[in-house]
Amino acid sequence: MSDEAMPVVSVLLDPDWASGSLVEDVRRGLGSHPLTLSPKWLYDDAGSELFDEITRLPEYYPFGAERAILEAHAGEIAEASGATTLVELGSGTSEKTRLLLDAFTEAGQLTRFAPVDVSEGTLREAADAIAQRYDGLEVEAVVGDFTLHLAHLPRGGRRMVAFLGGTIGNLYLEERRAFLGALADVLEPGDSVLLGTDLVKSADRLVAAYDDSAGVTAEFVLNSLRVLNRELGADFDLTSFSYIPFWDPHMERMDLRLRSETPQRVTIPGADLVLDLAMGAEIRIEISTKFRVSRIAAELETAGLAVSRVWTDPDGDFALTLATKP
Ligand code: AVJ
Repeated sequence: MSDEAMPVVSVLLDPDWASGSLVEDVRRGLGSHPLTLSPKWLYDDAGSELFDEITRLPEYYPFGAERAILEAHAGEIAEASGATTLVELGSGTSEKTRLLLDAFTEAGQLTRFAPVDVSEGTLREAADAIAQRYDGLEVEAVVGDFTLHLAHLPRGGRRMVAFLGGTIGNLYLEERRAFLGALADVLEPGDSVLLGTDLVKSADRLVAAYDDSAGVTAEFVLNSLRVLNRELGADFDLTSFSYIPFWDPHMERMDLRLRSETPQRVTIPGADLVLDLAMGAEIRIEISTKFRVSRIAAELETAGLAVSRVWTDPDGDFALTLATKP
């Protein structure tokens, strides 16, 4: 038996998605053209597990690239940030977080870890595992949406907010600006942000990463319709959609869509919506923007954060940027 403190878990999300922002999101996204869905709803417990599987696919290079950066530079990151609290947004299984936690612990400066994720099951498991592994570390987990609940991040100490995986690439430009601005607003002088971003590279490698041969990514993207069927009583027939991922060179982003292969009517009672889909109609489920280092820096600076360091992996596939609130 160990005597580690129990993680404290605050639940800011309504456990019943259908009564929360899912309905608004679906009405907005599927009630107008182009048809879109927010990628937020990909991460129910099944979706989180599928994403975990994606990270182990040989084609999905961002995961390994970011891990390589952390393996090489976590010590420098700990030192450069000087943080005593590590906050992680969209933490998932917190697997890579351990590299940061190890480095911060080694530097003897860490007192608290605060993972934030929409997936309660995944978050609780991760919080328990980390509390067990790091003796004396306070774990304050938040079941929340990082686009809505930034004001509720644990306060005090010197904080570094890690937003890894390239998840910021899932936001549209306007959303990114709003998010970085809101994040900068809740930080105190000396607090910092560690931002993971996937970098622009050849279309071949990008498409392969999002169109894996085992079909896991297709299953992950299709799972969004399963979520609508379950949460909103929709009647999407998953077998009538195909997965269409493509690289948009103009916007420099992957665009992940589902295409209706038959004309069909879909009813979504929980959102009071009837959707008539023509054959070939497409629903955009997720974008994954790829960045250039100069653009990341510019966006952080615009939000009022000062970039202090940028690390990339040896192949230049992925970047971690540390920016501090002045
Ligand atoms: C973890 C959200 C950044 O955009 O690469 C992976 C999600 N979607 N394959 C990404 C994802 C399809 C991933 N993020």
